[in-house]
Parts: sequence; structure tokens; C-alpha cells
Amino acid sequence: MHAPLALYIHWPFCLAKCPYCDFNSHVRDRIDQTRFAAALRRELAWEADRLGPRSLTSIFFGGGTPSLMDPATAAALIDDATRLFYPTPDLEITLEANPTSVEAGRFAGYRTAGVNRVSLGVQSLNPHDLQRLGRQHSADQAIAALDLAARLFPRFSFDLIYARPDQTLPAWRAELRQALSLAADHLSLYQLTIEPGTVFEGMHRRGELTLPDEDLAAELYLATAEEAEAFGLYAYEISNYARPGSESRHNLAYWRYNDYAGIGPGAHGRLTLDRRLVATRRHRAPEPWAERVERIGHGSTAEEQIDTHDRAREMLLMGLRLTDGIDAARFEARTGMPLVGAVDPDILAQAIDVGYLVHDADGLRATADGRLRLDALLAALVR
Ligand SMILES: C[S@@+](CC[C@H](N)C(=O)[O-])C[C@H]1O[C@@H](n2cnc3c(N)ncnc32)[C@H](O)[C@@H]1O
Ligand code: SF4
Repeated sequence: MHAPLALYIHWPFCLAKCPYCDFNSHVRDRIDQTRFAAALRRELAWEADRLGPRSLTSIFFGGGTPSLMDPATAAALIDDATRLFYPTPDLEITLEANPTSVEAGRFAGYRTAGVNRVSLGVQSLNPHDLQRLGRQHSADQAIAALDLAARLFPRFSFDLIYARPDQTLPAWRAELRQALSLAADHLSLYQLTIEPGTVFEGMHRRGELTLPDEDLAAELYLATAEEAEAFGLYAYEISNYARPGSESRHNLAYWRYNDYAGIGPGAHGRLTLDRRLVATRRHRAPEPWAERVERIGHGSTAEEQIDTHDRAREMLLMGLRLTDGIDAARFEARTGMPLVGAVDPDILAQAIDVGYLVHDADGLRATADGRLRLDALLAALVR
């Protein structure tokens, strides 16, 4: 059995820039599909060549908006990846899609290409809030796209953003219940974060957005988990809910700190190369990235070896997001450091005392209370 690998492929274009979003996404009048397809395929081949034989567990087309990609490009990349690596029998192939009607028209093509899971960016089912979030689709279009996804794909998930400006607890509960009635076995429910450099950040600074205060945000988070659980979807990660067994295998690879390759503009990866763990990163801007690939076969910028201390830090930051937490034996095998050696012992003891963390023979995990304040907890805990 070869070492496992998850593969991320970034499509950097969107129809419009949403005011809250700081992902590496760009708006163009015309996308040169042929050029970007060729560049992605070339960079994938380059990465596969240096990685050697690997067992491929998942492919994830993320963005930007991968549902703006020609289905033929997805098909070619899936064919390449399954030829260059050794696909596992249950290979998960996810594509992030936006629910406009034009994009839904391409769903059948993605299914034929081999995509077996779609993740739809619904964001809200409230028409007024969809507009405020700058979305290009209506609530009805989102519902129609979900219906189509359910018919075409073996698995589908969708994203909602909550803790939105002016959102009340009863309104969110009602919206979430409607969403759950449309869901299958997986949902991603994100609290709105105000990201630097976004339109929302400017509006927030000028006092033009009224966001839930800390108490309401906590109530919204707890209500989210309660409603999802009543429907049989469990929080397996801070923002991700699934029926047991239906978790996103690709995202689990990140949170468990396994190897993943990132192809395309701005994509990053964590790869074991010659027994060293290397952080990889691609040029962010789409056209300069493509030029670089055309010239030298890849758009990689500086790559760094990750030392023991940083591995431990990264694995803690990722692993404590998971409800199951971090397995002590895996932690030591992956980082070369025992779990207890990687955290501040006083903070660990205090966090266990107040019920934020549990530490036992299996490893370390955050409780629901701990996950509610995970950022602050991690900042104090991780050395
Ligand atoms: C790469 S993006 C989206 C994919 C697709 N382009 C879309 O918009 O539907 C992944 C998800 O991150 C979430 N997201 C992006 N920015 C966010 C923010 N500032 N706060 C909370 N969630 C955010 C959205 O739910 C989004 O669907
Ligand atoms: S949320 Fe999605 S559609 Fe909107 S700008 Fe970000 S990546 Fe593009």
C-alpha cells in the first residue's frame, strides 16, 4: 500500500466577488478555459512526477467557483489523477458549485466526468440576506440546484453562513430547519467572519454592519449544533455536520494532518518528500501562475521544510477542530514529538479543569465548551 494522498485543485474564477470573501478568487470578462485546463494538467503531472506512487483517497475541486470550469476539464483532470496515482476503491471526488441556473446546467457533465460529491454554496435561504451577501442566485435557484444535486450525485452537501448582520436566533433556527429539510447527510455551517481586505471589513469599520455580539454568536453556535443533531447530523468539526460515515474524507485529510497536494493558483499543500514534510504554495494570481507553469512546468513559489515544532503546532491547530480530537500515537508518529511536549502544561491543566479539554490515553480533544472558544484556547495552549 502506498502512502495516502488527498488532491486539491483550485479554480480561481468567480462570476462576481462576494463582499465577505477573501478566498483566492478573481472576476474575468472571459476565462481562457483551454489555457487553464492545460496549465492545471501540466502542474498535476509535475507534482505526480516528484511524488512517485501514492494511494489517492480524494480529489477536491475548490475555488473560486469550480462550477465555472468546463466539465471536460474536470474529466481530464480526474482521468490524469487516477492514472498518475493509485485511486482507492472509494475515491471521493468533490466539486464546489454555486447554485445559479447556468452552473446547475453543467451538473450532469460533472457527474459524467466522475464527480461523486458536490458541495453547493447556498449561504442563505433568505432572499434579502442573499442579496446582502452579494450572491448571484436566488433562494429558489438554490433549492432547485439542491434538488438536481440530490438526483444526480451519490453524495451532496451545502454551505450556509450564519451570525449574519441583524440575524436573530429565532430567524436562524427557522432558516436552519428549512435547510435541514433539504439536506442529505452533510452540511457546512459557517459563522460569518469579517476578513481583512473585504468589502464587509470596510462596512464593519464604518459601523454599517450590525453583527451579533459575543453572547448571541455563542447562542447561535449552540442552537446550530442542537438543530443539526435533532436531524441526525453531528458536528464532527467546528463548522461541519454529518451523519456518521458521511464526513468529507478530503477535509478530514487536512484536519488529521495527512499529506495533501495543492494544484492551481494559490493552492497550498503538505507533502512528505524524501522523508521531509514540506509546505508547498503556488503563485496566487491566475495569469502569472499559468505563465510560470507554461515556462517551467509548475507555479510553485518558495517551499519550506516544516520542522518538528511547526508540525506539532500545525497538527494541534487542525486536530483540535475535530470532535474526535487528536490521536496521541499518530501525533507522535507525524510530528516526532509527544503530544504533551507540544502544549503549555499549565494551560493544559487549567483547560482540563474548567472542562474545555479532555486528555486521556487516546489523545487530546476539545469539549463543546472548548470548541466554542477554540481560537483563544489554541492561542494560549500551543507553544
Ligand atoms: C471557496 S468558498 C465557496 C465556494 C463557492 N464559490 C461559493 O461561493 O458557493 C467556501 C465557503 O466558504 C464560506 N465562506 C467564505 N467566506 C466566508 C466568511 N467570510 N465567513 C464565513 N464563511 C465564509 C462560504 O460558505 C463558502 O461557500
Ligand atoms: S464566496 Fe464563492 S462565489 Fe463568492 S467570491 Fe468567494 S469563492 Fe467566489
